[in-house]
Amino acid sequence: MVGKQISGKDIAKQLRDRLRHQVLNEDCFRKRPPKLAAVMVGDYPPSKIYVSAKQKACQEAGIDSELYHLPSSTSQLQLVECLDFLKNSPTVDGILLQLPLPSHLSESAALLAMDPEKDVDGLHPISLGKLLSGQPGFRPCTPAGVMHLLDTIGVDLPGKHALVIGRSFIVGKPMALLLMEKGADCTVTLAHSQTQNLPELCLSADILVAALGKPEWIQGSWIKPGAVVIDVGINRLPNGKIVGDVSFSEACKRASAITPVPGGVGPMTIAMLLKNTVDSAKKRLA
Ligand code: GUN
Repeated sequence: MVGKQISGKDIAKQLRDRLRHQVLNEDCFRKRPPKLAAVMVGDYPPSKIYVSAKQKACQEAGIDSELYHLPSSTSQLQLVECLDFLKNSPTVDGILLQLPLPSHLSESAALLAMDPEKDVDGLHPISLGKLLSGQPGFRPCTPAGVMHLLDTIGVDLPGKHALVIGRSFIVGKPMALLLMEKGADCTVTLAHSQTQNLPELCLSADILVAALGKPEWIQGSWIKPGAVVIDVGINRLPNGKIVGDVSFSEACKRASAITPVPGGVGPMTIAMLLKNTVDSAKKRLA
């Protein structure tokens, strides 16, 4: 069973080590290291954990990071002023606006106010439009991390049926686009909470990406024997245990490869954020 598990933890570490080496050795970084500015509004506990993990990873890779922690009472104008300040800061290469924002703030207006040239999270409408139209640009970190995982373990994608479950603009929609892009060439189905025949769809999927945010929702008996299963879900059960969207122990018996939760996709999201930041800095310092 262990051989089937895709260690996002190890693959992310390899990528972070490569980035650290790049930051230490490439000429352009003699001027200054890359820098990420993380903006967090309020005190949503999971966001605090994610942001501190991102900052720690930056530090280990030789990337400067600075946290702009704004109170939950922050107004839309104050948030936009902060994002404007970062847009105009010459030493900031990447800006991460941690979501969700408190409910009185508009996420779409805040993302639109970011500098698309520093949008290392890939969530600005311009970055998403570039993805849709096949132009180079920053890709959202979680789906980009999934593509990196699939590539690293050598999954043969062209012509395969990939089923993405979940339609968020952070994961599901960009994931579907990346899997159907030239080069990946999957035949993609996008399912969501209103999809009627989910078990049947799952049974026909060679690659299944679960990003619906429901604990252990995907049953082992729904998995096509030999499928590659990527579990993007991170759900906390009442007993405190963290589980994915897939019923892992059952799915393991049928999948040819499967990501665990934790230690699967999560570390990849962070590694891709670092990669986008280093790429942005390289472009700006060249
Ligand atoms: N909240 C949950 N996932 C993400 C992500 O990938 N980026 C940002 N900015 N916020 C998130």
